[in-house]
Amino acid sequence: MPEQAESSKSSKCGDGDCSGGCAKKSSPHLWGRRDIVTGLGWLSVLGASGGVVAGLVRFMFPKVLFEPAQVFRAGFPHEYAIGTVDTRWVRDQRVWIIREPAKMYAVSAICTHLGCTPVWLTNEDKFKCPCHGSGFYKTGINYEGPAPRALERLKIDVGSDGQIVVDKSKKFIQEKGEWNLPGSYIVV
Ligand code: FES
Repeated sequence: MPEQAESSKSSKCGDGDCSGGCAKKSSPHLWGRRDIVTGLGWLSVLGASGGVVAGLVRFMFPKVLFEPAQVFRAGFPHEYAIGTVDTRWVRDQRVWIIREPAKMYAVSAICTHLGCTPVWLTNEDKFKCPCHGSGFYKTGINYEGPAPRALERLKIDVGSDGQIVVDKSKKFIQEKGEWNLPGSYIVV
């Protein structure tokens, strides 16, 4: 009979009923090994899904470099004094606008040596590059220092509203004989 009582205790423990005093007590740990393995599995699934979502978001919003616009409006011709090199656009656009008695043209403020920004020296009537000393006449022609060629001129036009429009994407090169081409100057 004592054996019968012992077997009765064992069967109850299997059902989770330990009121009769189980031989095997329930585990004191909150998470069993199986729970931990399952949790890790879900974590890796979530991690992989997150990577896919991040990839999709990056695809939908690609990295784009927003460069400043190449075309800008530069006011009206009468705002420029005859015979002067106007420096108002150098800081923002790296462009000088020069008005002669009968025409205007735009000169790129990028040194043809290594790309520094020259300065206009009114008293000396020349552009001077601070980096290696290249000098350029008002026309843009190089005459001293290491710069191998003249400053470039840029496309200039008059818009429908009468304002000057400069397009920095279109350049006119002196050595190619382009300074007389339409678009390299405007008649005023
Ligand atoms: S970058 Fe202008 S002289 Fe060198």
